[in-house]
Amino acid sequence: MAKKVTFLGLGVMGFPMAGHLAAAGHEVAVYNRTTSRAEAWVAKHGGRQERTPAAAAKGASLVFACVGNDDDLRSIVYGETGALAGMEKGAVFIDHTTASAEVAREIAAAAAESNLHFLDAPVSGGQAGAENGKLTVMVGGEPPIFEQAKPVIDSYARSCVLMGPVGSGQLTKMVNQICIAGLLQGLSEGMNFAQRAGLDGKRVVEVISKGAAQSWQMDNRALTMLEGEFDFGFAVDWMRKDLGICLAEAKTNGARLPVTALVDQFYAQVQARGGQRWDTSSLIQLLAKD
Ligand SMILES: NC(=O)c1ccc[n+]([C@@H]2O[C@H](COP(=O)([O-])OP(=O)(O)OC[C@H]3O[C@@H](n4cnc5c(N)ncnc54)[C@H](OP(=O)(O)O)[C@@H]3O)[C@@H](O)[C@H]2O)c1
Repeated sequence: MAKKVTFLGLGVMGFPMAGHLAAAGHEVAVYNRTTSRAEAWVAKHGGRQERTPAAAAKGASLVFACVGNDDDLRSIVYGETGALAGMEKGAVFIDHTTASAEVAREIAAAAAESNLHFLDAPVSGGQAGAENGKLTVMVGGEPPIFEQAKPVIDSYARSCVLMGPVGSGQLTKMVNQICIAGLLQGLSEGMNFAQRAGLDGKRVVEVISKGAAQSWQMDNRALTMLEGEFDFGFAVDWMRKDLGICLAEAKTNGARLPVTALVDQFYAQVQARGGQRWDTSSLIQLLAKD
């Protein structure tokens, strides 16, 4: 059933996600800090553009957001022009930003004070997943609130799963990023080793990707790593933000993340080489011959 919804933050991810909501027949209002992107979105998809998150959130039953980090999120949620100030009783704020579990719990508490609901719902699948409507969405919150939002989230999701109470979506996304960090370092070392051993890297990948070493990263990144192509994909700056969140959470739950901490430092070296916007597979650059 068509709903009145709002989308805040029309970046690489938010722009196509909001587009899928419009394509599914929902009445969409948008806000973006840089207004030209909101204008471009309305020109492409129709709907309504507003100058503040509060104005965009007015009248919506579901308010979605996808901005950069914890502080960006706070700046669109709180205050007179923030989303919570514009939302009507019973409405749900759904956050797709990759942020901390702590900020999720904080905003959920602030929302509850105004009789509003909150779900943390970070995504995996990248720009391609957002554009194709095939994201994996990991959600934290109350089951009845999740049930309200899920059919709408399904407009851009291949999978949308409730993981537990508020914060559980972000914690699940942290597990995702921890797994990817170590895996990419292993893949970098393997590809670099193949090159130095004089093997045909492409043939190596063809063979070993049929066996136990197979991974999404191998299927989608090994060949571009061998070619030294990194000007696309998931930016190192974003990965460092995410690993910072994981390492901070590990301090509170006691998990040991020795490899993740090491790979985080490798990414700092990639940044120092000017690779802030390179894809996360650029770790292999640090192993290249000078
Ligand atoms: N890109 C990926 O492959 C990917 C995959 C999974 C998860 N994510 C996560 O999804 C989130 C968004 O990523 P993205 O790639 O879409 O980033 P992006 O292209 O840089 O877009 C960020 C969006 O947030 C807005 N924003 C940032 N700070 C703000 C502030 N203080 N106040 C208001 N708006 C603000 C930006 O507005 P302006 O247009 O004005 O700058 C823009 O709309 C991040 O948390 C990222 O980690 C990204």
